[in-house]
Amino acid sequence: MPQSILVTGGAGYIGSHVVRQLVERGERVVVLDNLSTGYRSAVLGAPLVVGNTGDPETVNRVLAEHRVETVMHFAAHTIVPESVSNPLKYYGNNTCATRNLLECCDRAGVKHFVFSSTAAVYGIPAEGLASEQSPTAPINPYGLSKLMSEWMLRDLAAASALRYVALRYFNVAGSDPGGRLGHTAPQATLLVKVACQHAAGVRPGLQIFGTDYPTPDGTGVRDYIHVEDLASAHLRALDYLRKGGASATLNCGYGHGFSVREVLRMVERVSGKALKVEESPRRAGDPPSLVAKADRIRAVLGWEPRLDDLETIVRTQLEWEHRLQREPGLQKN
Ligand code: UD1
Repeated sequence: MPQSILVTGGAGYIGSHVVRQLVERGERVVVLDNLSTGYRSAVLGAPLVVGNTGDPETVNRVLAEHRVETVMHFAAHTIVPESVSNPLKYYGNNTCATRNLLECCDRAGVKHFVFSSTAAVYGIPAEGLASEQSPTAPINPYGLSKLMSEWMLRDLAAASALRYVALRYFNVAGSDPGGRLGHTAPQATLLVKVACQHAAGVRPGLQIFGTDYPTPDGTGVRDYIHVEDLASAHLRALDYLRKGGASATLNCGYGHGFSVREVLRMVERVSGKALKVEESPRRAGDPPSLVAKADRIRAVLGWEPRLDDLETIVRTQLEWEHRLQREPGLQKN
């Protein structure tokens, strides 16, 4: 049997886009997902094993049965304010489960590991701009839970033959331009998703969390990256590791930011609807501004984004919200 790629969290928002791209190019893929925030309907063209990355028995079995050569590890909790109110949930599912996964990979001789890290490892970078050399100083348990996983990966790679790419995601948004996949979870908290849910009539309104930040219009600034471009960075990382590339940690963003108000204006323009917006206090754990210095990933992986356009991000997200309304079955497991 040829070797496979294990995608943990492959039924989730980002993982499912990566699975689809991998399958489209003829890779053998197996998905491990506990369906806590993922959906069966999001796994297109690959077998799904329902289980936890923290469960050694399941992980060992999948690694052996599918002759896994590469692991792409997406499975995690990702909501910053929730990590502030429930930190142990994040250290358990993100850090401890990743430790288990790494131990299983080590035993099974997995060669390559692509890790979903986050811009949240930077905390509040100087000028709101973070390069891979910027100090890591997370301001919420989510960022710290991921940073600890980066450290485990670094140390394991130094002590074994495993090589890895850790991708530090900035703010992922948008949906498959082909309309097959999107961000499905109705309880999502991400700005673009929430605003598009509201524009599509699923939510009665939305809040702006903080209007007194030291940013040009007082609202938070983020580097929004289209999920399809982010997914393609993972395929590049895989190719790089297969060619013998050294372990690397890379920012994954476009290198420019938009404020909350700018995003909401775009949602109004694309949807043709006036949004009902309430100005609210700052949300726990949020940095004022977080934008990538994004040249290293281009140089190391040869990655070129194709959808670096806020309008495309919002349009594809909105189209997905409309599809979810037409097909509520997509949100049932
Ligand atoms: C997101 C990711 C996080 C990642 C980070 C990197 C998720 C759930 N979160 O967090 O994993 O580490 O990007 O930068 O994947 N906002 C509002 N109203 C809302 C929602 C958000 O004003 O209803 C504001 C926030 O205060 C923030 C901005 O919009 O300024 C973006 O917030 P959000 O979309 O929730 O993403 P992050 O918290 O940045």
